[in-house]
Amino acid sequence: MTVPAPPDAAPPAFDLLPALIRTPDGRIRQWTTGAERLYGWPRQSALGQSAHTLLDTEPAEPAEAIGAALRRDGVWQGRVHQRKADGQRLDLAAHWSVAADSPTEVLEVAIDPGNAGSTEAAYRLAAIVDSSEEAIIGKDLAGRVTSWNRAAEQMLGYTAAEIIGRPIALVLPDRLLAEEAAILERIGRGEPVARHESTRRRKDGTIVPIFLSISPVRDAAGRIVGAATIARDISDRIHMREALRTSQMELVHVSRLSELGQIASALAHEVNQPLAAIANYAAAGRRTLAAGNGAGAATALERIGQQAGRGGEIVQRLRDFMRKRPTETRPEPLAEVIEESLSLALIGMHERPIRLTRWLDPAAGTAVLDRIQIEQVLFNLLRNAIEAMAEAPQQELTVATRRREGNRVEIAIADTGPGLPETVRARLFQPFVTTKANGLGIGLSICRGIVQAHDGTLTAEPNPGGGTIFRITLPASCAAVPDPRNV
Ligand SMILES: Nc1ncnc2c1ncn2[C@@H]1O[C@H](COP(=O)(O)OP(=O)(O)O)[C@@H](O)[C@H]1O
Ligand SMILES: [Mg+2]
Repeated sequence: MTVPAPPDAAPPAFDLLPALIRTPDGRIRQWTTGAERLYGWPRQSALGQSAHTLLDTEPAEPAEAIGAALRRDGVWQGRVHQRKADGQRLDLAAHWSVAADSPTEVLEVAIDPGNAGSTEAAYRLAAIVDSSEEAIIGKDLAGRVTSWNRAAEQMLGYTAAEIIGRPIALVLPDRLLAEEAAILERIGRGEPVARHESTRRRKDGTIVPIFLSISPVRDAAGRIVGAATIARDISDRIHMREALRTSQMELVHVSRLSELGQIASALAHEVNQPLAAIANYAAAGRRTLAAGNGAGAATALERIGQQAGRGGEIVQRLRDFMRKRPTETRPEPLAEVIEESLSLALIGMHERPIRLTRWLDPAAGTAVLDRIQIEQVLFNLLRNAIEAMAEAPQQELTVATRRREGNRVEIAIADTGPGLPETVRARLFQPFVTTKANGLGIGLSICRGIVQAHDGTLTAEPNPGGGTIFRITLPASCAAVPDPRNV
């Protein structure tokens, strides 16, 4: 059952009922605002007193019968006569019950039939509060719990009987104690407290993530006397958020692998080149050695070493790029990031008549980024540009950086290809939009996700001389840490 949350300023419903909790020796441990109103005794003078003496309670049934009913059913209902602070006698309908887990304590609720209307309303409200799926917790301005519904019992493990009258700090993780004090102070001053996510500590010590709203509770005279908290368990939401984040990171990774997969044969060729060179130098070395030319053999060995180093570098760069790793942002030199992306993107393109131009603005030296993720973006943009120019008479690839207003840097990648096809223009950044036979069409959607998670932008526009320009803007330094949720 879902019950609409009570209006913001509604006091905790239990507190509205004329009710008291008495300990095994009959002393009043809990005394509600409703009881104050019905009997005329303020809380301070009622707490700790013997309930039956203070109220001069005369039940219609003998005490043994009531005790038997409480032991047997946990509940007794009947008429009682009680006395108000001003001496007036009351004829009341009583509902006494035993606390489920603290069977020696008795909860007494009284209904004044002469005033049944408002009691009835309070009862109804109490029923709503009790059946609410959200924890509804009342506390006074000193931080003592004044009411605690069933959902609060389930969420936090304390029963109402256990916690009412005790400090709310019992359910607060230590690091939230100061914050709680500040919130109560604000409430006391009548200032609003925005809804927010927080955490609470259950009786068993585990932590539960919650979303809560807090509103002031006023007495009949309108004075703020406490606060009511409505809290929802958001464990599911947090789990889903984590799961989503994980699967988004997976997707980014898979797309990186798939981009590389498309240049797999060119990659194999690239790695093969130093190996072939090594074989050549080895043969040459053998020949020069056989001819007794020691110096020539030494040169060949040196070349072999260089080629092995080159091969190792390529493999290392690939391994870095393919690795799955958590997001890590820091100021990085843009020129290096661009150079590494270019060296990957140009693999296998040595035969193509591509003219590469770099315009690197020294004022756009660094940007805050996750290096591998931004290299993944640049790699896809560069590959798209190179693939788009496959048939173009002029194949000019330009990478330019510049400083932009608002502490940002821009990286532009321009090509002289045919421009964006009409069919993809409107849906360019949506997934699975591709005009390529072997394309997946997820590159640009993932690029935009990555860039936006960096608090940046990714846009496309026509290149005035023909072709397309993609522009990335990123924070130059010290901007918000990217939230991988958006990746
Ligand atoms: N520089 C470009 N010039 C022309 N068309 C482009 C360019 N970049 C992207 N496109 C178009 O956008 C589509 C989607 O690109 P992308 O999301 O990277 O997926 P994929 O490269 O797998 O097709 C491409 O198939 C192509 O039609
Ligand atoms: Mg692509």
